[in-house]
Amino acid sequence: MAESIPDLRREPKDRAYAQLHAYLLQILAGIDDDIAGMATLSALLHHAFGHLWTGFYRVVSPSLLLIGPYQGSLGCLDIAFGRGVCGTAAAERRTIVVPDVEHFPGHITCDARSKSEIVVPVFNESGALVAVLDIDSDRRNAFDKQDADGLEHIVRWFAGVGRG
Ligand code: SME
Repeated sequence: MAESIPDLRREPKDRAYAQLHAYLLQILAGIDDDIAGMATLSALLHHAFGHLWTGFYRVVSPSLLLIGPYQGSLGCLDIAFGRGVCGTAAAERRTIVVPDVEHFPGHITCDARSKSEIVVPVFNESGALVAVLDIDSDRRNAFDKQDADGLEHIVRWFAGVGRG
C-alpha cells in the first residue's frame, strides 16, 4: 500500500467510496486544476483498492481520447470514440461495467492480466465530456453498480462539486 493512502479493500464498497471521497476533497482543497485532480484520484483509487490499472483518457478532439494521468503499467496512448470500452463509454456518455473483458466485443487489451473493467464518463460544469475514468482489475466481476454509483459521485469534482 502506498504511504498514507488507506487500504479500503476490506471495507464495504459504499463506505470505502465515501471515505475515499472525503479524503480526496481534503487533499484537493484549494486546487482548481483537472490534471491535479486526475493524478490525485488515480493514485488514491489505485492504491486504496489494489487495482491493476487506474487512470484517465482525456477528450482531446471531438472523437479522440488521449491517455492522461494514470497508475499501473503502460496504457494504450489514444482511443477513438466508439472503440473498446473507453471509446464506447465516451461515445455513449455512460458508465460501462465489464464483468469479463473476454465477453466485450472490441475490448482493447493493454495488459493481458486485465479480467474486468469499469469506465465512467467525466463531465465538466457545462455538461461537456472531458474524460473517462478507466479502472481495470486482475479479477473477473470486480466491479458492480456500487462501484458505478461511487465513482460517478466522486468524478462530479470535475463538474465543480466540492472543488476549489
Ligand atoms: N481496455 C480499454 C483500453 C484501455 S486500457 O485497459 C488501460 C478499452 O477497451 O477501452
